[in-house]
Amino acid sequence: MTSSIRFLMCAPDHYDVDYVINPWMEGNVHKSSRDRAVEQWQGLYHILKDRAVVDLVKAQPGVPDMVFTANAGLVLGNEVVLSRFFHKERQGEEPFFKQWFVEQGFTVHELPKDLPFEGAGDALLDREGRWLWAGYGFRSELDSHPYLAKWLDIEVLSLRLMDERFYHLDTCFCPLTDGYLLYYPPAFDSYSNRLIELRVPAEKRIIVDEKDAVNFACNAVNVNRVVIMNKATDGLKQQLKTAGFEVLETPLTEFLKAGGAAKCLTLRVTEPIIPDHRAIATIESRILRLEGHLLDSGLINRALDLIVEGGGSFQVLNFNLGEQRQSTSSAEVKVTAPSHEVMETLVSQLIDLGAVPPPQEVCDINTETVTLPGVAPDDFYVTTIYPTEVRVNCQWVKVQKQRMDGAIVVSNTPQGPIAQCKLLRDLQVGDRVIVGTEGIRTVRKTESREQRNTQEFSFMASGVSSERRVELVVEQIAWEMRQIRDQGGKVVVTAGPVVIHTGGGEHLARLIREGYVQALLGGNAIAVHDIEQSIMGTSLGIDMKRGVSVNGGHRHHLKVINTIRRCGSIANAVEQGVLTSGVLYECIKNRIPFVLAGSIRDDGPLPDTQMDLIKAQEEYARLIEGADLILMLSSMLHSIGVGNMTPAGVKMVCVDINPAVVTKLSDRGSVESIGVVTDVGLFLSLLVQQLDRLTSRYQVAQLV
Ligand code: ARG
Repeated sequence: MTSSIRFLMCAPDHYDVDYVINPWMEGNVHKSSRDRAVEQWQGLYHILKDRAVVDLVKAQPGVPDMVFTANAGLVLGNEVVLSRFFHKERQGEEPFFKQWFVEQGFTVHELPKDLPFEGAGDALLDREGRWLWAGYGFRSELDSHPYLAKWLDIEVLSLRLMDERFYHLDTCFCPLTDGYLLYYPPAFDSYSNRLIELRVPAEKRIIVDEKDAVNFACNAVNVNRVVIMNKATDGLKQQLKTAGFEVLETPLTEFLKAGGAAKCLTLRVTEPIIPDHRAIATIESRILRLEGHLLDSGLINRALDLIVEGGGSFQVLNFNLGEQRQSTSSAEVKVTAPSHEVMETLVSQLIDLGAVPPPQEVCDINTETVTLPGVAPDDFYVTTIYPTEVRVNCQWVKVQKQRMDGAIVVSNTPQGPIAQCKLLRDLQVGDRVIVGTEGIRTVRKTESREQRNTQEFSFMASGVSSERRVELVVEQIAWEMRQIRDQGGKVVVTAGPVVIHTGGGEHLARLIREGYVQALLGGNAIAVHDIEQSIMGTSLGIDMKRGVSVNGGHRHHLKVINTIRRCGSIANAVEQGVLTSGVLYECIKNRIPFVLAGSIRDDGPLPDTQMDLIKAQEEYARLIEGADLILMLSSMLHSIGVGNMTPAGVKMVCVDINPAVVTKLSDRGSVESIGVVTDVGLFLSLLVQQLDRLTSRYQVAQLV
């Protein structure tokens, strides 16, 4: 007997499954046998008694789960952090455990009310005493971990539990003597698994498969080289043996019905402090403010889900509910993350939702200087399409040239500080680039309920339409385009060759001719096939009238490229009467600027195609400026490029036959973008029809 080791247990005098607070209890209410439970408990008790001192706390009626003394609290040295049970069914145990600890002379720490933490069920010391592993996600709150670090003066490594069957850390994770670890990786999120792998070398990790995990093999009591558990497969026993451990099995099936086994039934109350391990809690907290129609728009749910799904936890510090339908609400949320890295990821996503630091909280952004041309400091803040403001000298400064996928450069001028988006390639040595997420906010429009419901573009907001709804959407788009044209606005079209293949060329040409398009963006291919169609009647060798492939048609596009190359440019071809119709013809005739960005296919290219991609992107960006509406027609890559260059607030319509492309492009988290899943040729023909209809209606109105 190693008398220096002590455990606390509680006899199953009042044990039963009386309620359901974990998946194991489902279907097991009053299904456990008292006699067998007593017998099994005795089995464990005697095994332990041979190896350590076992103290007992008196069982109490009305709290059947009190047998699971692992949940009494967390002990280190002479300190104990008492549990605060998540479920009210177990809260009645708290005073009895507290009394026992007080009587034993422990210094008792109590967490604030409403901050759940379930003791050694969710907090396990590394057996070398180097740190504390602490679980969260089901029963214990992440916010309890900093208290553990402070009171017990130890580094806390937070692990997020993901599988509700393994709701306590000790159901799937068991640190063993000599730095070994017995655990079931799928019970944790990927960040936690990475953390485990960083701390425990591969040769010390004993991985349990699902079969053993569901027999609670990880819920084991480790006394030196002995590991006591309900049951283990031969494979697991062998693995443990190789690592130098002896497995003792003792059936605990009656307790499995309540979701517990060997480890749950015990609490090690002698946990020596190993000096030299100071509290280094990696946990971080930040306070953020959200404002808007938090409930109506689901913003608060999205924010809180994002925090939890991203591995953090939150506390709503205050919530001011807007009382009238039109008044906005505001909330202050304390976000806690297990590490700085997770915090930064969470906060940048929350900023995208419009979260801001509380007033006066942050006076200045953090910046670092560029030392290598075209390379940002590691931790640089990546920009989004949303209008952004940054805190400089305690003032909010609007970021200029807002676009996605850039960095923000801050400079001081005699007129005051300036912030602007810059692409990585444009960064120069000495530029001050914003790093981290502090002092950054995005300005999101708060639409009232009514606005949101009546706005032209809202009914398909950020959604993807089905075929049946296409006509309705087209009607809206036609109306919008008509208005933009009448008001001298700007519509930009990005188009892929599919527009031509699907017979949409003539319709697009007409839109251009009739003044509905102010700029055209594409690649080499749309122009090649458009010209092929107009000169040879085929598109990629397919006869556009008959829909059949033409003999030798696959050479057509090269012939066409060659023809244009001979002319020197598309414009020359038009002038010389070589090109007399089509999309590009209309662009030239109507002086509509176009940019053809690159040709990967390597089939020419046309003399007008800009093969320097950086130049092409600059030209794209120039043509997008001031756009009111962007029509993206079946060209995924050009459209993604355009989407990234365009700040929020510009309406976008993305048409593609592939729903995945549409979802990707129209998911800008704003109400201004809509997706239409349909054949682009069909879409264009419907659009032209609708515009005609509007025109005739307009003419009728004029006559009346
Ligand atoms: N029925 C108990 C509960 O759900 C079981 C506790 C098991 N204890 C443990 N340390 N895993 O709370």
